Amino acid sequence: MKRIIVTGATGGIGSELTMHLAKAGFDIILFARDENRLRALSSKVSETTESKGAAFSLDLSSIGAINKFDFSTLGKVDGLVLMPPQLEPTADPFASPEAWKKYFDASFIGPLHFFSRLIPLLKESERAKVVLISGISSLQVLSHYATSNVLRCAWVAQAKTLAHYLGKDSIHVNTLSLGGVLTDEYVAELKVEAESEKTSIEKLLEKETSNVPLKKYAKPLEIAYAVEALLGNFSDHITGVNIAVDGGFTKAY
Ligand SMILES: NC(=O)c1ccc[n+]([C@@H]2O[C@H](COP(=O)([O-])OP(=O)(O)OC[C@H]3O[C@@H](n4cnc5c(N)ncnc54)[C@H](OP(=O)(O)O)[C@@H]3O)[C@@H](O)[C@H]2O)c1
Repeated sequence: MKRIIVTGATGGIGSELTMHLAKAGFDIILFARDENRLRALSSKVSETTESKGAAFSLDLSSIGAINKFDFSTLGKVDGLVLMPPQLEPTADPFASPEAWKKYFDASFIGPLHFFSRLIPLLKESERAKVVLISGISSLQVLSHYATSNVLRCAWVAQAKTLAHYLGKDSIHVNTLSLGGVLTDEYVAELKVEAESEKTSIEKLLEKETSNVPLKKYAKPLEIAYAVEALLGNFSDHITGVNIAVDGGFTKAY
């Protein structure tokens, strides 16, 4: 049974992804911070699938916490789905130096350190697959995501660099750049917006997705299908790519 670490496992995308991969026959190792949510999901995984659903509470933004974590308890790992923690988006490209430092520490340096500590465990696998979850601001500028534009591009550059560096160890590093995803939290926000605009959620979604060629946002399960493909044989000769999972929204070639 292939053992896959999923970070952000308890989130809107992560929980659906974790269940889908566990049902597909992977042994999932869950990471997030909130212990109650981790326990609940871990129980669901172990009670309904063959996966043990081992779960660990760890703040990926904290170098200190990552340094204290005993990675040797994890054993061999065949894959990693890394969802770097995201801070509130801002449209201000001139965030203060302190804010920039916070963004980089939380969303890049911390999760990258976590990734680096997993390399010896990934090297034990015959062919390990790393899937980095990103957003479409890695492919084109989004005016209301000023800091994310920079951080997402930093990750794409790092993923490409790591694909070159780790290829000799049969460790693949690929990125999925997501457009809008209809997580429960996002649907709840849309409901509030629809009420305040005195319209239905269907009409609001129709308006919001009018510039998406497929005329829809993704369901979390559709993200899980794309991750599953990159973890499987589909990517046996693919590394260093950044794939948009955005219904065709991104216009660049
Ligand atoms: N939803 C979308 O439309 C969309 C679009 C593009 C990209 N994405 C990306 O997809 C990923 C998942 O999105 P989502 O909507 O599922 O987010 P979410 O529902 O907010 O879930 C975030 C997950 O990350 C964990 N987390 C947050 N901060 C953490 C930290 N410092 N250390 C460790 N774990 C942490 C959360 O659990 P705890 O709080 O318990 O730690 C939770 O499991 C994110 O990287 C996001 O940027 C999402």
